Amino acid sequence: MPNNYNKLLNNLEYLNLTQFKANIDSYLNLIAKDDKDVVDSLYELTELEMNLKRERAITACVKVANFPFIKTLEDFDFSFQPSISKDQITNFKYLTFIENKENILFVGSPGVGKTHLATSVGIETAKSRYLTYFISCNDLILQLKRAQLENRLETRLKFFAKYKVLIIDEVGYLPLDIESSNLFFQLIAKRYEKNSTILTTNKPLSRWGEIFGDSVLANAILDRLLHHSHIINIVGRSYRTKDKIENIEPNKK
Ligand SMILES: Nc1ncnc2c1ncn2[C@@H]1O[C@H](COP(=O)(O)OP(=O)(O)OP(=O)(O)O)[C@@H](O)[C@H]1O
Ligand SMILES: [Mg+2]
Repeated sequence: MPNNYNKLLNNLEYLNLTQFKANIDSYLNLIAKDDKDVVDSLYELTELEMNLKRERAITACVKVANFPFIKTLEDFDFSFQPSISKDQITNFKYLTFIENKENILFVGSPGVGKTHLATSVGIETAKSRYLTYFISCNDLILQLKRAQLENRLETRLKFFAKYKVLIIDEVGYLPLDIESSNLFFQLIAKRYEKNSTILTTNKPLSRWGEIFGDSVLANAILDRLLHHSHIINIVGRSYRTKDKIENIEPNKK
């Protein structure tokens, strides 16, 4: 081995170039046998290192996005939910909706896969290093209300407005008081035509007045959300109860 071999290993260790260090011996052997060019070897070693760093960055982006679970578009059984177009949903992974600042609204009854799909699209955006965050509508409102009480509402609104993709889950399960509805409106207004919002709701959009307790406010929110948007209406059975229903049906016959 060359004189400086051990020193090189120490430097690689110090610089935290783990892939470089782990693979250098095999490359030195290939170079010694004239099976590999020195420049190609150095290039490939740096590529190995960069791949690891890229993977780590992706893992970190997915982690900070606060997803409730890690489920991808590949995990979604589209044959179970024929009311939606697989092509339309899988096209979201090309992320043009982010460039166009479009919103995506998943509408449907419990268990039809709204959170799953919103999460899978969010995983694609996070993997592409777009700043992504998942939050339930309830938690979002609690955070905004607390910020308002503590006189830092503007900062908190800016915080949520800055995400390239904000996923707001479960809009409509709990009705909002007028103060909460106002806070929700302010956030949507701040994000309008700037960043994409993905939203899931169990309530048909025509009944959003019931969520916000005020049809004028509900219309103002919907107007901004829908201007540039994809609405995915999921009409079908709950995936959560599918096995129970299948088990019950044969006994019925
Ligand atoms: N078509 C599907 N293929 C595979 N898994 C599915 C499908 N639909 C739903 N699931 C799974 O079923 C569970 C419930 O789905 P999800 O949480 O997305 O429902 P939801 O529409 O958000 O319901 P809720 O309105 O009650 O929150 C999840 O574990 C999800 O991964
Ligand atoms: Mg859900």
